Amino acid sequence: MIQNFREYLDDLIHSGYTVRHDGHGSDPDLIDPGGDPIETWRVDYPYDSRMDRAVYEAEKYRLQVELLKFQYWAQDSGTRHVVLFEGRDAAGKGGTIKRFTEHLNPRTARVVALTKPTETENGQWYFQRYVEHLPTAGEIVLFDRSWYNRAGVERVMGFCSDAEYEMFMRQAPLFEEMLIESGMSLTKLWFSVTQHEQRTRFAIRQIDPVRRWKLSSMDIASLDRWDDYSDAKEAMMLHTDTDIAPWTAIKSNDKKRGRLNALRFFLSQFDYSGKDTAVVGFPDPKLVRRGRESIG
Ligand code: ADP
Ligand code: AMP
Ligand code: MLT
Repeated sequence: MIQNFREYLDDLIHSGYTVRHDGHGSDPDLIDPGGDPIETWRVDYPYDSRMDRAVYEAEKYRLQVELLKFQYWAQDSGTRHVVLFEGRDAAGKGGTIKRFTEHLNPRTARVVALTKPTETENGQWYFQRYVEHLPTAGEIVLFDRSWYNRAGVERVMGFCSDAEYEMFMRQAPLFEEMLIESGMSLTKLWFSVTQHEQRTRFAIRQIDPVRRWKLSSMDIASLDRWDDYSDAKEAMMLHTDTDIAPWTAIKSNDKKRGRLNALRFFLSQFDYSGKDTAVVGFPDPKLVRRGRESIG
């Protein structure tokens, strides 16, 4: 059924698949040659329709105002904040980060998206290149992928040895404990996407000229590794979802609900000045779960 995905991707436009935008330049649908949208997002998803764009925009705006209040509070209190965005390829990490940062002051909010390690970095302590990017007082740092590469892509694609992987699984909780004990907040978000929805998103990247750069060779190479990534995620959740540094898993087949819930969950952890608890509310329990409870 899903063999030869590379060939399928190359053949998409030729075979009449198109991409339809909703008029806002984001969240396009894949349209089959008969003109019907591919609705792979429905699989294992607890809602029958995706969130309405107008409702989404209104809620997003209110949550972004809260995030700004959070930023002012972080600056005033001199606190330090780290958010990790993890998940399979095309799970929605980048899109969510974009909505986090949209209205923030870039002076004290940074995104860190590291490329594969250089030779020098490979000679260093594994955590070293990430440590350099940790926040100073008043800063929020958003990691688009993180030290958890070792538990995911590096493990699955064989970029680290078994011994390095095992050491990482032991050290990550200790490393995080040090960060938290030193006063940093650490939020670990895992964006979940189902297998067919991931493929649909890859297909959209292939067709949509402004998204092609997102379709990496690593994405293609990972395509027939779905089960390996599932095993890697499970092991990661078992070893690194600790009480002081828990994982939070967010079902993201509907990107809009996924993003709003990420914002909501993040804000719900803090008691910043001027917080409007009615706006922040609570993350949707149908979509947001403790990481280790999301496996299996
Ligand atoms: P992204 O999905 O973040 O846009 P890619 O799909 O290209 O990026 O790569 C996924 C992750 O795998 C990235 O974090 C990248 O740094 C990492 N990666 C790619 N090649 C290697 C490698 N040889 N060794 C370690 N990590 C790698
Ligand atoms: P299906 O196998 O029909 O459940 O397809 C689910 C999704 O997989 C579709 O929405 C496409 O994104 C993708 N897909 C469809 N046809 C193929 C194919 N021949 N090979 C690989 N993936 C496909
Ligand atoms: C991802 O691969 O999860 C992203 O960074 C891109 C997206 O927003 O889907």
